[in-house]
Amino acid sequence: MLKEILLVNGPNLNLLGTREPEIYGNTTLNEIENEVTELAKENGYLLTCFQANSEGAIIDFIQQHKDAAGLIINPGAFTHYSIAIRDCIVAVGIPTIEVHLSNIYAREEFRHRSVIAPVCVGQITGLGKVGYLLALTSFMQKFN
Ligand code: DQA
Repeated sequence: MLKEILLVNGPNLNLLGTREPEIYGNTTLNEIENEVTELAKENGYLLTCFQANSEGAIIDFIQQHKDAAGLIINPGAFTHYSIAIRDCIVAVGIPTIEVHLSNIYAREEFRHRSVIAPVCVGQITGLGKVGYLLALTSFMQKFN
């Protein structure tokens, strides 16, 4: 059976491509998901993509996929305050990498704190869509 890696994007990331392109770029979420899926496939991994605007839907998805080998997550604004998503990551025990398109440390102060990062393997921030590809690469190197 193929090793499964999850790619989860949180609120407003479904608007990528048109949402504040000067910050988030012109690439749509669909294009990002396709590119990461392609890289996973080439290397013999199954990537399961999910996006939701609500906290509960993200938690339900992660719980339902608790046997996945890795989780790549851009929690969007939930990054800064969702103890529930943090608790979920700890509860299921899936190794997790947090990704942000923008550099959260170069923006408003309220974005500087992530309540999720301390329970993650690592965090990639500010590298645009490449961040997702790097997160996947890191998991694949670890699992191979
Ligand atoms: C983001 C950064 C968050 O602060 C913001 O709320 C987002 C996107 C990023 O990818 O840069 O929705 O996670």
